[in-house]
Amino acid sequence: MTNSQKIFLVLGGTGRTGRHFVNKVLQEGHRVRLLVQNTKKVEYNNTNLNMELVQGSIIDFENFDELVQDVDYIASMLGNAQLQKNENINANFVKKLMPAMRKHGVKRFLYQAGGLTRPYNQNLPFLMWIVKNTLARYYGLLGQHRDNETVLKYLVEKAQDIEWIVHRAALISDAPSKGTLIRSKTKTSMATFVDCAHYNYRLLSDDTAIHTYDLSYYFK
Ligand SMILES: NC(=O)c1ccc[n+]([C@@H]2O[C@H](COP(=O)([O-])OP(=O)(O)OC[C@H]3O[C@@H](n4cnc5c(N)ncnc54)[C@H](OP(=O)(O)O)[C@@H]3O)[C@@H](O)[C@H]2O)c1
Repeated sequence: MTNSQKIFLVLGGTGRTGRHFVNKVLQEGHRVRLLVQNTKKVEYNNTNLNMELVQGSIIDFENFDELVQDVDYIASMLGNAQLQKNENINANFVKKLMPAMRKHGVKRFLYQAGGLTRPYNQNLPFLMWIVKNTLARYYGLLGQHRDNETVLKYLVEKAQDIEWIVHRAALISDAPSKGTLIRSKTKTSMATFVDCAHYNYRLLSDDTAIHTYDLSYYFK
């Protein structure tokens, strides 16, 4: 491994954002470790020395040493709207991941939440609140936002020693790239999965983003 080559642990790497993120990391010449429920979902070739699979579910995962050892960056694009209706599966996992990060000296963690995820100790702007309580409610996504809000609260209140970054993404489609997303406290754009993934990749090495939970929009 070269000095500039980093190891990224990707959670949710088989998902709509995560798979673009994995491709980006590999294209940039880094290594990826993926936690996957189903290894068949990954375009994996065991001659690809830059990809490593750990099989498991965040719900009952235990072997955090194996997962986190030697990792430089951790990126979460996890989601399971059905299970999140009743349980904070992401938050429960993040609460176990943080001690493992401390133990192994892993500093930086990116978590993708949603544009309708309430910022810590603040309310959503009225229009976004309406969208959340109509569309997101209709599509059964309120639990996912509750879980994301629980993750954010935990990171703010209990993990200030970790260099966490929360991206409140407004994804909409798997269309080709529409441009470059940049960070904003107030502006948001309906983005494509690939653009969000590339933005997440840049965000992970942006020191000014540490301990923020901003939105993203297309800079024209
Ligand atoms: N989709 C949107 O439009 C949207 C909009 C705004 C914000 N977001 C946020 O962005 C996050 C990612 O969204 P996405 O649409 O890219 O996600 P997605 O396509 O639903 O993918 C979710 C990922 O999480 C993994 N996962 C689910 N349950 C797991 C478990 N028990 N153990 C291990 N991995 C598990 C999935 O693995 P499997 O492939 O094995 O199921 C998949 O890789 C969401 O959670 C949401 O908070 C999404």
